Amino acid sequence: MIHVTEKREYTGEYPDKTLYLPGPTEVREEVIEAMAEPTFGHRMDRMTDLYTTVVEDTKEFLDTDNDVIVLTASGTEFWEATTLNLVEDRMLVPTSGAFSERQANVAERLGKAVDRIEYEWGQAVKPEDVREALEASDEGYDAVGMVMNETSTGVRNPVEEIGDVVAEYPDTRFVVDAISCLGGDYVDIEAHGIDAIFTSTQKAFAMPPGLAVCVVSDDAYQQELEQDAASWYGGFQRCLDYYDRKGQTHSTPAIPLMLAYREQMKHMLDEGHEARDARHREMAEYTREWARDHFGLFPEEGYESRTVTCIENTRGIDVAATIETVSERYDMVFSDGYGPIGGETFRIGHMGEHTVESIRELTDAIEDVADL
Ligand SMILES: Cc1ncc(COP(=O)(O)O)c(C=O)c1O
Repeated sequence: MIHVTEKREYTGEYPDKTLYLPGPTEVREEVIEAMAEPTFGHRMDRMTDLYTTVVEDTKEFLDTDNDVIVLTASGTEFWEATTLNLVEDRMLVPTSGAFSERQANVAERLGKAVDRIEYEWGQAVKPEDVREALEASDEGYDAVGMVMNETSTGVRNPVEEIGDVVAEYPDTRFVVDAISCLGGDYVDIEAHGIDAIFTSTQKAFAMPPGLAVCVVSDDAYQQELEQDAASWYGGFQRCLDYYDRKGQTHSTPAIPLMLAYREQMKHMLDEGHEARDARHREMAEYTREWARDHFGLFPEEGYESRTVTCIENTRGIDVAATIETVSERYDMVFSDGYGPIGGETFRIGHMGEHTVESIRELTDAIEDVADL
């Protein structure tokens, strides 16, 4: 193997930057401070207090009676785990951007037969296309897997309507990657038959990275039990049975991150899920209006994300240079367009603890630097 990466010494001397990325996002000071506790054992009663609080508060916040797993991992773990736990043979995956393509790719690497419904980047997944694919399949699918908020294109897919379609197929589980929106974009999980929905803590939950959350229906738990194989680390049965018996995780969790989670979830419960959703809609509307005034919007109209705005660079500004200068001059960081649409688009993450006021500070900075 040829190694091209050389060590670049971590100096510890870096200016604080305000994050307007599509994750990680800003974390409250008291949430950072909550992590600075002496280490305790993951089989101590204190851990049971902490983990049961984390799990039950999450159910309350998300307004669900389904089971909740909080695992030490990034959200990617639940692409693998939901596929291994729920898909014996075949999976349907609508693809419309980098992350949905990766979800399909993960399932293929795990040896599953994946049928895609392919959309151009920027387009939203349509319920009628999912219905058509389900109707056309002779063998049926073990699961439909999709991304709710396509972070690469800034599209918010209509998972509620698609869930209602999938619910007509009782042997097919509905798996939703809500990594870049859950907690900022309200979704009624049970009303739309979502069997597994997952996120990463560094996005709209506004916590440090390192934990992943998955909400699991009874049907999903049952489907895993009926299969020959499942994930070990992210197995629903292993995680949930351990919780039922001991109120703990099956292996040693990132305890400091669990402490941060507990602290931030207090704030999330105080604000409430619907108020958080309303604040995210306001931020999204403000950002879209600003984008329309100065540039254009990349996503199909009517399907714009509530947590990440993907802006079409209609003025041909030098996106990379603008990002760099805004960072140097204002200590604020936002994102270039993803992969193949870098430079043609750029993205502002308005999630977590941000407000219209804090987003306006960024758009003012961009206006200054790009001379808008
Ligand atoms: C929609 C979506 N899915 C999956 C991921 C991967 O999440 P993680 O980096 O937490 O594994 C991301 C990360 O940005 C994402 O936006």
